[in-house]
Order: sequence, then structure tokens, then C-alpha cells
Amino acid sequence: MVVGGGIIGLVTGWRAAQHGLSTAVADPDPGGGAARVAAGMLAGVTELQYGEQTLLALNLASARRYPAFAEELTGATGLDLGYRPCGTLAVALDADDRSELRELHAFQRSLGLDAQWLTGRECRRLEPMLAPGVRGGLRVDGDHQIDPRRLAAALLKAAEGAGVAFHREPVERITVARDRAEGVVLRDGTALSAGRVVLAAGSRSGRIAGVPPRVVPPVRPVKGQVLRLRVPPAYAPFLSRTVRAVVRGGHVYLVPRENGELVIGATSEELGWDTTVTAGGVYELLRDAHELVPGITELPLVETLAGLRPGSPDNAPLLGPTGLPGLLLATGHHRNGVLLTPVTGDVMAHALTHGGLPPYAEPFTPGRFGGADAPGAPPAYGLPPSATPSPQEQTV
Ligand code: GLY
Repeated sequence: MVVGGGIIGLVTGWRAAQHGLSTAVADPDPGGGAARVAAGMLAGVTELQYGEQTLLALNLASARRYPAFAEELTGATGLDLGYRPCGTLAVALDADDRSELRELHAFQRSLGLDAQWLTGRECRRLEPMLAPGVRGGLRVDGDHQIDPRRLAAALLKAAEGAGVAFHREPVERITVARDRAEGVVLRDGTALSAGRVVLAAGSRSGRIAGVPPRVVPPVRPVKGQVLRLRVPPAYAPFLSRTVRAVVRGGHVYLVPRENGELVIGATSEELGWDTTVTAGGVYELLRDAHELVPGITELPLVETLAGLRPGSPDNAPLLGPTGLPGLLLATGHHRNGVLLTPVTGDVMAHALTHGGLPPYAEPFTPGRFGGADAPGAPPAYGLPPSATPSPQEQTV
């Protein structure tokens, strides 16, 4: 039973079903969630942060999977995902911004990542709509984009096609008996039993009732406000690739899609469960984006939206078995849910079929946040890595 039908829950359900597990997903609105708001940058190199080298390895592992993953998903559904291997340009507007970008470049180089420094003029040659004030930038040809709404729609169709059962009801609580997760109760009172329960409810993953306190995932909502503009055919091509910018210390990005949509994002606000689109949020995004690409003021503004990223204490996801037998996590993807979708599907399929994490995902065990009964200490929970689930556990 997968609790949550956003892209992470859907990819988990799809992969589990492909591995022959009888699988269900519970969500009142599968295919919704944070992916409805997300811009879809696949930008592990451009969005690299100090101290996140371990996460970088997972981000890059997922980015490498994307071409084959997109092809497989399109093959299974006939749906185009808007996967666009267009590269990303990160630019700086003033001298301080340029210093910040230079630092990022040095850090990227120290890790052997592919990023090329460009002068302001070289940036404008690539993207003529950039403001004359752009001081320099980083060309990252390996950071791409996808349309998260199309991704979600395709995952939903693929999961349905693979035989995943959908319960379009909120989960009221998970059920635990004899110190083992054994199902869920839906809001309408329906009780569903399952050999394993995967919490994949994004920022709400820590709020599902019935989860013993010792294994409640430490995720919190991190608000992001996003704008969608439309580039009329007469203005195309407006931008040819994703443009990310440091603007007086703040960050803004513009993601141009082939269908004319231009996504501008995103604020990052620690405001709990608030999803209000504010005048201040819209103003800041438009102000910074306008400074970067003055021509945006000509474009129709078609949507403003706010969503909640599932933040974790170290900004990395929590994947795999917990300290409660039968309960697994696939949450905490924070800024990287879309990027990490392919690798999360593989990691969760491995965890559900083998009982443990593949070596490359071990740093993301929920147990890393400690506690005497912490999830993730291999001998204390679940199945040993080599064990195959018993027949009654072949359900998710
Ligand atoms: N990765 C983009 C964002 O979280 O805003």
C-alpha cells in the first residue's frame, strides 16, 4: 500500500507492480501534489549546494536514468513528458552575484562536474533575451528539464496499466499490530491490509496518524510560489534553455517549455502549511526575472501557484525501511522530487523486493537521523538484504 499518489508514490507503485507485487495507491487526487507546482528543472549541477555532495551522487544517478526512464514511460503510455535535454545557463547580475557563481564553479570543478564559465557577452550570445547587465554565467549542458504535470499524468497511466489499484480517498491512519505496519484505514472507514506500507505523502508524510512517534519522518513543508507565463508564437524562441540566476543574492529561474509555457520560480518559505500566493512573492519573482530578462513583461501571466516541498533535515530524501517492520518511506525529496523520481522508483522497488537498500542509496536510509530505535539500523528491522518477502508480504 503506497500512501500518496504524487510522482514519488506513483513511481513507487508502478515499479512495485512491474516487479510482480500486488500494489495499491491511496490518494484522493493521484497525479496531483507538489509536481503540479514544480517547474521540472533537472539541475543537480546548477543547484549544487555546499555540504550536499552525498545528495549530488543520487541526483546525478537519477539524471543519468532520465533519458531511458522517459523513453520507457512514453513507450508504456503513449504520453509525451516534455523531457527536454536543453541544458541550463546560470547567470549573475552584479559583482557579488558573479563572485557567488565563481565560487559555485570552483566547487563544481573540485567535484569533477561539467560546467563552463562564460562572460556576459557569451551568455547573451546563447540567450539574446538576457539583460545587458548580465555579468557572466555558467553553462551546464547536462542539466535538463521535464514537464512535471505530464510526468505525473504518465506515471498515473503507467501505474494503472501495470495493475496498480487506486483508492481515491485520503488515508485516515496506518494500522499497526504486533509492532508491524499492516495496512491503512481510509477516511471513508475502509480498512485495507497490506504486507508493506510505503509513506510517500510528500510534506504530509509526517502527519499520517497511527505511525509510532519513533518512526515519524522528520519532514516539513517548504513553500514555493511559482508563476506560469505564456510565450506567444511571435515571441518564440524566447529562451532556448533553462536560465537560473543569482540576483542580488536571491535566486530565480526561468524554465521555457517547447509548448510555449514559461515557468518562473520559486520562493522558498518556511511558513508551515500556508499555500497562499502573496503579492510579495509574485512581486519578487517578477522583479528578479524582469531584471534578468526584461522582455517577460510582454508575456501573458497565466497562472500563479504555491506548493509545499517536503523538506528534510539534510535536504535529502528518506528512502526504504524504517524501524517499524512493514513500514517504508519515500519522502523528503525537498527541492529534487522531479529529478529524483527515476532513481526513487528503482530504490523503492529494490527495497520492496529485497528488503534493504541498494548500496548507492544506503546514505538515504531513514535511520540516519539517529535515535535508539531509529529506522535504518539493518539488524533491527525488516528483512535482511538477501531475504525475499514471504508470500503474505508480496503486497504493497
Ligand atoms: N528545484 C527547484 C525548486 O525547488 O524550487
